[in-house]
Amino acid sequence: MTEETKSVVVIGAGQAGLSVCAKLRALGHTGKLALIGAEASAPYQRPPLSKAYALGEMDAERLLLRPDEFYKKNDILLRTSCTVASVNAADKTIILSDGERLDYDSLILATGSEPRRLPASLGGDLDGVFCIRSLADADRFAQSLASARKALIVGGGYIGLEAAAVAAKKGLEVTLVEAGERILGRVASSKTADYFRDLHERHGVRILENTGIRRLTGDQGRVTGAELEDGSHLEADFVVVGIGVTPRTALAETAGLRIENGIAVDETGRSSDPDIYSVGDCASFPYRGSRIRLESVGNAIAQAEAAAAAILGGTDPYIAKPWFWSDQYDVKLQIAGLHTGHDQVVERRQNDTVCSFWYFRGPELLAIDALNDPRAYMMAKRWIESGQSPAPSDAGNPEVELKTIAATANAPLEAA
Ligand code: APR
Repeated sequence: MTEETKSVVVIGAGQAGLSVCAKLRALGHTGKLALIGAEASAPYQRPPLSKAYALGEMDAERLLLRPDEFYKKNDILLRTSCTVASVNAADKTIILSDGERLDYDSLILATGSEPRRLPASLGGDLDGVFCIRSLADADRFAQSLASARKALIVGGGYIGLEAAAVAAKKGLEVTLVEAGERILGRVASSKTADYFRDLHERHGVRILENTGIRRLTGDQGRVTGAELEDGSHLEADFVVVGIGVTPRTALAETAGLRIENGIAVDETGRSSDPDIYSVGDCASFPYRGSRIRLESVGNAIAQAEAAAAAILGGTDPYIAKPWFWSDQYDVKLQIAGLHTGHDQVVERRQNDTVCSFWYFRGPELLAIDALNDPRAYMMAKRWIESGQSPAPSDAGNPEVELKTIAATANAPLEAA
């Protein structure tokens, strides 16, 4: 057996799992290649589920990452509706939930992340309460939008805000409840949160921050609303729960892999077992001296491609270049970099809707949130990725044209 002919099994048929398979074939791998997913559908895009798909502007066919022919043409054995029960790393086999065993030479865990749910003791199991993570969830959301009048959204992260925007655009009465001090507490500055709060309020969404849910209320098993921690009551025909995700590590645990905020991998995607790799939302990897997990399409693709190269004998490290986006109403948010550790946020405002927020640590540009401002995004992204920074005073002055700003060199970016 050579690297090109070894048998590879990929568990998890999302963006990351598909990207490993596509890259392996593109790099000349000719061995057996199986892609196993628990969901009924072939790999599809998740980001539109809480945006264009929910609005009815995109159909299920267009969500598919590749047409059926792709799998045949590339000799990829795609097994959908198939659940893996455990991994036996010593024997290099996986065991499916129906007892079938499959051997591998290299295994990739691309198991993704699991949405956090409200516990049944708080009414989280009532009909009409759901997350938006899978196609089935998004279909439930679309059906609810068609028949309901009042929506309750729990959680003010990007998922919750996107769901609120969709429901408001569909003409529903929308309330969003955020337990933390403010919306977007995990992922953005208070300036970005202010921008989105204002945007939503202009579209009629009621945002309640610093507000916990005491319990969801129901009638004959179906949700009717919520009792808030202050004792007040809200009516709702359905409830979307967007309170974060956790990495799916259960299979990795059956294989005895090292877990550290996700499946711990090195800079090539290799886990603590040399024949098992992990990529995407479920994997934690070295980044600038610490270990992070990224929940994004960009990371799923780039990390998967790096791992595919490593499986075929490559040694190039994966250097993450984080980027994200969100669409709400007529606003496109583009994010580059990670804002963790910032000590200053500089605002660059062109007008009421076009603006950007630049996150600095001392003189170093860490990240940008660009709102309807693709030029600021592109410029900042290039600076961040090359380890350079503009002076904060220039970044914050819309009179100074971006392309005329001279970057000041910073410490080089490094993966580990
Ligand atoms: N009640 C109300 N709000 C809550 C509760 C609760 N019981 N628990 C958590 N929250 C709030 C958090 O304070 C946070 O503001 O829910 C918000 C969740 O935001 P995120 O952690 O950013 O998660 P979410 O918006 O669900 O997105 C999860 O999905 O879009 C993808 O990959 C993307 O990382 C993202 C993931």
